[in-house]
Amino acid sequence: MRGQGTGHHTEAMTSRRKPSPRSPSAPRVEFEDTTPYDAYVRSSTLASLQRTLTDEPGEYMFLVCSQIMELYFNLIAYEWRTAQRFLREDDLDEALVALRRANDHFTALNASWISFRWMTPTDFNAFRDALGEASGFQSFLYRHLEFLLGFKDPALLRPHKNVAGDHYDDLVAAFEAPSLYDDVLAYLSRKGYPVPEDVLGRDMATTYEAHDGVEDVWVALYGATGHVDPLRQLGEALTDAAQQFSDWRYWHLMAVRRAMGAKGGTGGSAGLAWLERSLQRQAFPELWSARTRI
Ligand code: HEM
Repeated sequence: MRGQGTGHHTEAMTSRRKPSPRSPSAPRVEFEDTTPYDAYVRSSTLASLQRTLTDEPGEYMFLVCSQIMELYFNLIAYEWRTAQRFLREDDLDEALVALRRANDHFTALNASWISFRWMTPTDFNAFRDALGEASGFQSFLYRHLEFLLGFKDPALLRPHKNVAGDHYDDLVAAFEAPSLYDDVLAYLSRKGYPVPEDVLGRDMATTYEAHDGVEDVWVALYGATGHVDPLRQLGEALTDAAQQFSDWRYWHLMAVRRAMGAKGGTGGSAGLAWLERSLQRQAFPELWSARTRI
């Protein structure tokens, strides 16, 4: 029952009232220049980045939530690259830990869309013009995620080509490198699964295309493994990742539909119709098609 202390609880509270010299009762409060917290987390830098273009109350949410999503894109890409590194070292257990972490981050990322539910076209119109041609379409961190998932459209590199800094070079490197799925298939091949040679040796700088031979591999793997088998768990962790990515796209589509209907986008696309097309594309395609045959 709430508010009712147990003996254990009371004892703990008593010991807190009599601090020992080794456990001071209050945290340190005097600092010079900066707090160690700010030196580490950089909250003042983060706060300084939240500069809106208008005084519309809705724009602050739009900016901050966009920044939160960008931070999560980077974090998820980091986890997927960590998983790739462990797969290359044949350490499936550690790769699975990173993949599961990424899926939890994705759940948190997708929850950010809840902040957009209130936004009507009137609210969005109030600051939309101030955005000029700025569009999430130009997000290089989102493109990193897509490349890791195996979606590689060279046209999507172009917006970053003349941009200052290392973003373009980093993006091109990610574009040309194996995707997370390529590393998974190479791992399965080393474990004796008959992944076709033309898939293993494919041009990595192209979108991954579904292959019947890979579908056969997943059908065989799911048939031969139980729930707790790490290879089955690898398949499920990837399926979760693909589903969470589709969820992000779906939430985005619904936020767009709510805030601007079928108007054209600030990035110059047809808006909803364009986004609906990309929602059709599924990451790790054979993990989905194999389910019909399992
Ligand atoms: C009400 C809020 C939003 C609206 C109305 C909106 C609108 C759009 C539209 C119309 C597009 C298509 C490209 C264009 O012509 O601009 C687009 C693309 C995109 N937006 Fe948003 N957006 C919103 C929020 C966000 C947020 C918070 C993010 C997070 C960073 C985001 C990230 C993206 C990305 C990554 C794309 C490219 C998608 C792809 O290439 O498949 N958007 N957005």
